[in-house]
Amino acid sequence: MDLPNVQTDGKVSLEKTIKIRRTIRSFTSQQLSLEQFSQLLWAAYGITEDRGYKRAAASGGACYPMDIYALVGEEGIKGMDAGIYHYEPMGHSVSLILEGDLREAVARASLGQMWMATPPLSLVICAEYARITSRYGDRGVRYAMIEAGHMGQNIFLQAEALGLGAGIVGAFRDEAVIQVMGTPPSHEPLLIMPVGYKG
Ligand SMILES: Cc1cc2nc3c(=O)[nH]c(=O)nc-3n(C[C@H](O)[C@H](O)[C@H](O)COP(=O)(O)O)c2cc1C
Repeated sequence: MDLPNVQTDGKVSLEKTIKIRRTIRSFTSQQLSLEQFSQLLWAAYGITEDRGYKRAAASGGACYPMDIYALVGEEGIKGMDAGIYHYEPMGHSVSLILEGDLREAVARASLGQMWMATPPLSLVICAEYARITSRYGDRGVRYAMIEAGHMGQNIFLQAEALGLGAGIVGAFRDEAVIQVMGTPPSHEPLLIMPVGYKG
């Protein structure tokens, strides 16, 4: 599924987004638009180089070892079914991996942080270490984790610029999250970021 074109300019200043950013844990279930969804994925890991392949987040050696999965709730995003979607930066598109509203299951796998079941969307940042350790050895693991942090901050700031809020969750059982999402075991989840209107 192709995503709508993104905005590369906005009305909220970068300084303001940095000032107001907080980890949000209270959301409404208000639906997001496809445009908002598209913008958040682009900010996290979209292609930003004209006629190139470089992305919104810096990457050690431009190896880009990360994948983003979107956990979309029922009525979470206008025009989309509930499910797990994989983001493909090159085509700025998503593909459905698994159907169904899996927010509660992911919240349970996140040591019962049930506040994660309310927001319409969570973005799950995963690393496939082999794509970077093949070049940098064990140090590639460190580089991938740093890259996840860059992506997370981009999501935080883009959410604020859209009038939304984001949370950040590192406390979860990796195997349980992988099992619920039906994603490849080599895509190791590092951060889960619920996004929505602040409640
Ligand atoms: C790597 C990482 C993991 C985190 N994991 C969780 C988590 O599992 N649950 C949660 O509620 N907050 C989590 N947080 C959010 C922190 O509690 C929060 O960033 C910190 O209290 C500072 O608040 P602020 O982000 O609002 O400035 C995490 C933050 C980071 C950077």
